[in-house]
Amino acid sequence: VTRPDVGIGRAAERAERIDARFKGLAPSTFGLSLDELAAARPRLFDGAFTPPIMVLREEALRHNIETMARYARASGVEHAPHGKTTLAPRIFDLQLEAGAWGLSVGTASQVVLCRAFGFSRVFLANELVDPAAIEWILRELRADPGFEFLAYLDSLDGVRLFADRLPTARPRGGLRGLGLLVEMGPTGGRTGCRSVEEAVEVGRAAAAAGLPVAGVAGYEGGLGSVIDAAVLGRVRAFLGLMRDAAEALLAGGLVGDPGRPILSAGGSVFFDEVVAAFHAPLRGGTTPRTIIRPGAYVSHDAGHYEGLSPFSRPEGIAGFTLQPALEAWGQLVSVPEAGLAIATVGRRDVSFDLGMPIPLRLRRPATGEWQDASGMTVTGLNDQHAFVRVPEDVDARVGDWIAFGISHPCTAFDKWHLLPVVDADHHVVDVVRTYF
Ligand SMILES: Cc1ncc(COP(=O)(O)O)c(C=O)c1O
Repeated sequence: VTRPDVGIGRAAERAERIDARFKGLAPSTFGLSLDELAAARPRLFDGAFTPPIMVLREEALRHNIETMARYARASGVEHAPHGKTTLAPRIFDLQLEAGAWGLSVGTASQVVLCRAFGFSRVFLANELVDPAAIEWILRELRADPGFEFLAYLDSLDGVRLFADRLPTARPRGGLRGLGLLVEMGPTGGRTGCRSVEEAVEVGRAAAAAGLPVAGVAGYEGGLGSVIDAAVLGRVRAFLGLMRDAAEALLAGGLVGDPGRPILSAGGSVFFDEVVAAFHAPLRGGTTPRTIIRPGAYVSHDAGHYEGLSPFSRPEGIAGFTLQPALEAWGQLVSVPEAGLAIATVGRRDVSFDLGMPIPLRLRRPATGEWQDASGMTVTGLNDQHAFVRVPEDVDARVGDWIAFGISHPCTAFDKWHLLPVVDADHHVVDVVRTYF
């Protein structure tokens, strides 16, 4: 669906012409549309691209999407992949085709982006307190009976800001399609009510203002970046607090659809804990409708998430794996000292907040010869350069192309507006456009 009133849409995206705005694309591609570039199937190394360039590995991307969809189905939960990871409607389409319930997003602008592409189920996993954005979303609900929207509440002020817009923008047929989740947050954490009492107070105010309370949400992902008993204890206690809040809201008659209260949590590290914690019926016998929100899983990585995902940790979950789908390609521009090579991949191109890029393999353009680069390490990044330690057994030369795995997809995708999707032989099979 193309929505000219909100900017873009699929047809406009695919017809967009490549030009100098898109780093990594060589001038030989300028003037081609995204679809024309994909149809030409250029190989990464043959002149259509100039490093640095970030690519997505098609097989890994499809594998990850299929894996999480299968896991959600097998676990009896719904999945609203967090779209802020990629901000790529092309990837959202694949996630929804695989069975995702809808999309999570983090900001009002990301809701607008989803609507510009006609996505009908959007879950803003955040508080919405901007009156203009609230009013716009209420109008969208009114204009499109197929639009479903969820967002958080964690304060009386938030309830008031939302409720204040109702008289001017009340959707036809009441507030059909709207669900508000009382957010819980761990003490010392980010947003969210810190106690069941606060949650009930917020829920009561929302219900009194005529706002539909649909359940409880939270985010456990910030509770630890190692997997040990202390972290798992904190995660389980927090998920238990969310259940307690849902039970208290139900007991108070504050949930709009008490037969199907929503419980939502789960990033890409503890979604298995969320599935386990929300599986059992709530007090009173209601089985919650669980929505998990992993986003980073879609590309996975070769660092942070590779170490933490339940699908890639050593103990694992039988039958489920993820593959790193993002690769940053640079070129060695200098080998100034023995044991040191400098590559054209910098902080502008790759994530560095949760670990340095990980050298994978080298390719010599003149011969097409490959070398394993896993013995190399990145010791530092400048804006446009990587410092790469080269062991003695690796023959690294100026001009060689080098592929890096990345650590942390969210801060890697946002550095690219166009990412070629490549097959196992590095031929382009698609082009992904992001909207950061
Ligand atoms: C509220 C919320 N939900 C879900 C996610 C997705 O988690 P992940 O990036 O680990 O996939 C995030 C990530 O920051 C988040 O903030």
